Amino acid sequence: MNMHIGKFSIHNTDGKARAGELHTAHGVIPTPIFMPVGTQGTVKAVCPQDLKDLGARIILGNTYHLYLRPNDEMIARRGGLHKFMNWDRPILTDSGGFQVFSLSGLRKLSEDGVTFSSHIDGSKHVFTPEKVVSIQKNLGSDIMMVLDECVPYGADHEYTKKSLGLTTRWAARCRAAYPQGSGDQLLFGIGQGGFFKDLREESIRQLLDIPFDGYALGGLSVGESKAEMMDILYHSAPLLPADKPRYLMGVGTPLDIVRGIDAGIDMFDCVMPTRNARNGTLFTSQGKVNIKRAQYTEDDSPLDPECSCYTCRNFSKAYLRHLYQAQEILSYRLNTIHNLAFFLTVVTDARKAIEEGTFQAYKARFENIYDT
Ligand code: GUN
Ligand code: ZN
Repeated sequence: MNMHIGKFSIHNTDGKARAGELHTAHGVIPTPIFMPVGTQGTVKAVCPQDLKDLGARIILGNTYHLYLRPNDEMIARRGGLHKFMNWDRPILTDSGGFQVFSLSGLRKLSEDGVTFSSHIDGSKHVFTPEKVVSIQKNLGSDIMMVLDECVPYGADHEYTKKSLGLTTRWAARCRAAYPQGSGDQLLFGIGQGGFFKDLREESIRQLLDIPFDGYALGGLSVGESKAEMMDILYHSAPLLPADKPRYLMGVGTPLDIVRGIDAGIDMFDCVMPTRNARNGTLFTSQGKVNIKRAQYTEDDSPLDPECSCYTCRNFSKAYLRHLYQAQEILSYRLNTIHNLAFFLTVVTDARKAIEEGTFQAYKARFENIYDT
């Protein structure tokens, strides 16, 4: 194993915001970083080459989906997910826990793991901590995530406390199934604890006894108000080890990401840029644009004059609106390219601001344009 794999170094800080580098088997990831979501081994509507042209440094894949279809062993026989999808930069895979709870039918939780039925054909399956590590080994992801229970919004203190204990025991079993340094893959723990600060502290405290290569915050953006999420985020992020990468799972809007960086988070993923692109909601330096609106029918200006992506360099809002209205598949592609360019620029600009010591001004400018 390459001795640098897993190394995380912080070059600059500005307040709690950090600029650093994480070494993985498929290259170095500059942080803060945004990871485009490629659930089924594809970032919807774009090619790996598009992602490289956009400057994407790492993408996300999903254990739950890839296990059910086409199957992790089938992917392993083809040399792993990188080869199968022809993406040679880093990949992080989520463990499947979250997707079991959000997508599958009948689920049953026990100490051993979770039994669920497939959202594709209703077939029955079991995820244990050992099983999700085995699947992620087959996929060959650079960063594996532990099996966890994402506590539903509204869960009470008693349920949440029990659940985070189970998440910790599952995390320890994942680590035991893949001891630190036993290969080229990294394993991250996930803190839960719902919307109770004492339980967030307890969850993180328990995880610190297990050596992980990075630590994530889960269970956020699950239906709570923005104020509740920010309260938990700013309280919890500083409790994560300072010398390891910190990952905020499934969050969020561009402003959420800037605030996450402000709280000391290094890594983010969200379906928002890709999903919203496909329904015509585009993020620009002037705020959100809903490309289906009639006001753009004859608007020959670029979507975002400050953006240098392929879409903004070559097409007008009038054309993008036409493609959307005509339900042309190029609409998905051009909109996705732009929204990913925007999210990736948010984190690279934040990184520059941290290096220059101007992050608070960057955040303030951002708060003037985006209010959610
Ligand atoms: N993605 C968004 N939130 C979560 C979470 O709490 N756990 C996992 N595993 N993935 C997530
Ligand atoms: Zn653009």
